Amino acid sequence: MRHDHLITSKQLSRADIETVLDHAAEIDADRSAVADKYSDRLLGLLFFEPSTRTKLSFETAMKRLGGDVIDMGSVDSSSVTKGESLADTIRVIEGYADALVLRHPKQGAATMASEFVDVPLVNAGDGAGHHPTQTMLDLYTIRENAGLDDLTIGIMGDLKYGRTVHSLAYALTKFDAQQHFISPDSLALPREVVYDLHQEGASIREHDGLEEVLPSLDVLYVTRIQRERFPDENEYQKVAGEYQIGPDSLSSASDDLTIMHPLPRVDEIAPEVDDTEYAAYFEQAHNGVPVRMALLDLLLGDSDD
Ligand code: NCD
Repeated sequence: MRHDHLITSKQLSRADIETVLDHAAEIDADRSAVADKYSDRLLGLLFFEPSTRTKLSFETAMKRLGGDVIDMGSVDSSSVTKGESLADTIRVIEGYADALVLRHPKQGAATMASEFVDVPLVNAGDGAGHHPTQTMLDLYTIRENAGLDDLTIGIMGDLKYGRTVHSLAYALTKFDAQQHFISPDSLALPREVVYDLHQEGASIREHDGLEEVLPSLDVLYVTRIQRERFPDENEYQKVAGEYQIGPDSLSSASDDLTIMHPLPRVDEIAPEVDDTEYAAYFEQAHNGVPVRMALLDLLLGDSDD
């Protein structure tokens, strides 16, 4: 995979995705081959929005590759509070680092930022847009638990603002998955995403309840309602608490069902589900490290794989 920037999963072919997943599996089995590979390299972390897993797993990944990170820190402690533009911030930090990871509340911010820099830039979430590295670890987890061939997946929750959903849905079109989208009407997939998925020939269906599809699912991907993206708190309150799952709501699920969630969860999955054979969300979060190591190796490395 040779891409200067990773902005959306739309830019990746099935072969690109498989290259990353295969390399992540190699690293997961034995980290020693890459342990000191990037001892002279720095990864710049620019997170203009809160993050726990994404930021820490990028940091862990870079350090496990022998490299180090520089971190802009919180927006409050940076020059952004003095009115500096994203374009200026990014051009300055580009001079310090060999690659950049950007998370920003504005959809399209990563595309815009990538036009100003020559080092590889990775989109770690742009508003309600995309989150392609989350998709890579999601696909890795799906492949390990259910396989990516003949997959039937339910994607449930906030499909409107959930960027992990958008990125995953696009990537799954490369694998001929059957995708069932489950949400209240007000949080349905954006129409432009539905249009794009149809253009890609995807098999998709939209539902307002889980019951009718649950028995057919190999994977159920649950998401948080993205409260911070609602223009009106009242609108959030109308849907808050809907689409929760607990042991009782899973009685018609297949024994082999895999339940995933990009985390953080609020109340979408009851804690009692954590100890069941279905739960794969903590494993999914752990997969962020080998998958991001693989991605960084492919972006920073000299190989032409
Ligand atoms: C997701 C995100 O930031 O989009 N979190 C993550 O990266 N694992 C999901 C979310 O915040 O709900």
